[in-house]
Amino acid sequence: MKNKIKPFLFILTIIGGISLAATVPQQNTQQQDWKAKNLKVLPKDISKKALDSIMHNFKDALGVKCNFCHAKSKTDSTKLDFASDENRKKNFARYMMVMTDSINNKYFKRHLERHGSFAVTCATCHRGQEEPAVTMPTTEKNMGMMPQKKGE
Ligand code: HEC
Ligand code: HEC
Repeated sequence: MKNKIKPFLFILTIIGGISLAATVPQQNTQQQDWKAKNLKVLPKDISKKALDSIMHNFKDALGVKCNFCHAKSKTDSTKLDFASDENRKKNFARYMMVMTDSINNKYFKRHLERHGSFAVTCATCHRGQEEPAVTMPTTEKNMGMMPQKKGE
């Protein structure tokens, strides 16, 4: 998994770097003590800010909350234990990270080089769904239904 890490650094640069740097410049000092405890795909020394943007990205791409992948804390059930691997969705998400990464590296390397961003992201497939749809929404059906809706 070691060589899979680099492209996620791209994500950091893109999501964490550009978008956040524009709004929250130089906040790094506050978060220097923070360190993730259990990263297997992302760089172990990732900043809290960069990790947060990736996590929010996952959440939005799948249309879920943090607890979809993260287990409850054993000591305080009102909190999540982000470092725990007890929720199996978390490991599945790791598998998906590696997959997304290799799709980009294998098939969309030029996009990555030219644009500095992934051509395929979690959102490309998930579109805000936990499980991506396998078929297109049936156009015929939709077209047949829409005019029947009241007020349209
Ligand atoms: C789709 C699944 C998924 C969702 C949703 C998700 N996470 Fe994660 N999160 C992961 C995975 C996978 C890792 C571990 C990444 C790795 O191993 O490199 C992780 C790691 C973390 C860590 C680091 C824990 C440690 O110390 O090792 C934090 C903090 C975290 N997530 C916070 C959040 C927050 C906050 C949210 C909601 C905004 C969230 N996550 C939503 C999958 C998810
Ligand atoms: C190429 C398309 C594709 C991409 C890109 C992709 N996924 Fe998925 N993902 C799927 C499919 C298809 C499934 C359903 C797999 C199944 O049913 O066995 C799935 C399932 C999942 C699940 C399990 C959902 C459940 O209900 O159990 C998680 C979590 C997940 N993906 C996270 C991610 C994350 C995080 C990313 C980005 C790093 C990502 N996926 C990128 C296609 C994709």
